[in-house]
Amino acid sequence: MYESFYNLSENPFGMTPNPRFFYKAAGHRGALAYLAYGIFGRKGFLALTGEVGLGKTTVIRAFVGTFHPCLEVAFVLNTKVGFEEMLYMFLHDFGCSVHGSSKVEMLTTLNDFLIRSYAENSNPVLIIDEAQNLSADVLEELRMLSNLETDNQKLIQIVLVGQPELETVLSRSELRQLRLRIPRIHKMQNLTQEEVGQYIRFRLSVAGSSNGRLSFASDAQEEIFRYTQGIPRLINLICDRALFHGYRHRTDVIGKEMIEESIKDLRHPASFWNHDGYTEQSA
Ligand SMILES: Nc1ncnc2c1ncn2[C@@H]1O[C@H](COP(=O)(O)OP(=O)(O)O)[C@@H](O)[C@H]1O
Ligand SMILES: [Mg+2]
Repeated sequence: MYESFYNLSENPFGMTPNPRFFYKAAGHRGALAYLAYGIFGRKGFLALTGEVGLGKTTVIRAFVGTFHPCLEVAFVLNTKVGFEEMLYMFLHDFGCSVHGSSKVEMLTTLNDFLIRSYAENSNPVLIIDEAQNLSADVLEELRMLSNLETDNQKLIQIVLVGQPELETVLSRSELRQLRLRIPRIHKMQNLTQEEVGQYIRFRLSVAGSSNGRLSFASDAQEEIFRYTQGIPRLINLICDRALFHGYRHRTDVIGKEMIEESIKDLRHPASFWNHDGYTEQSA
């Protein structure tokens, strides 16, 4: 809606995952380094946590996008499933044919696959997103999978990715054996105030705002940081609304009052539809 007014080639604050918009804040770089250390060092189990909307899934996608030629990756998103369904899903991702197989047959298929991968020097990685939803039983079965190893190497690397509650789940006494397998849980850091400003400028420039005409005033950036605590999903929501308000006021400088208005919109979504300048087509 505001893109043509600001001469942008696309929406700078869209939610669709797009590697071109990936901004490497220190927290994201730290998470990438942790994944590289654990996966290439064949540490067996890894756990990555962070607030909702911080960019955990984005980081995983960036990691896989960069390293997929030297990894065999299975990516499980739906964690509200039992172990057998999950086994089926990730064997399928690994390219194994398991249609109609029993659990024992699937485990044999996995074993054969891992031994073959080892012989071919490839590195199978199972990534489970939203892992805070996994039941203790499923987590325990996953631990058993990591028993598949040679004398000095794990045959499969398992990465648990989840919200901060994942840490609470892993600290439960019935999961202590699993917890002992995880060398270190990595907690991803939120963006700092300075990074929030850089993130906004980066996204604007990727979307084509190269001449710097469009900008966020420094008190507007402070207000965004205060409200979002450096969570990209919230930053995107606020900035998208703020550009709409900027467009309504026909201004190139997004001021603090537009951020406050945007925060109000998010708190009371109904008020958003009442703004002048909003039309069905511009939605
Ligand atoms: N480092 C980043 N660079 C650019 N955009 C990001 C980054 N991290 C997160 N985002 C944006 O924030 C939104 C939420 O990210 P996501 O990875 O889904 O968070 P999480 O998985 O932690 O809940 C995504 O739409 C993504 O576009
Ligand atoms: Mg996610």
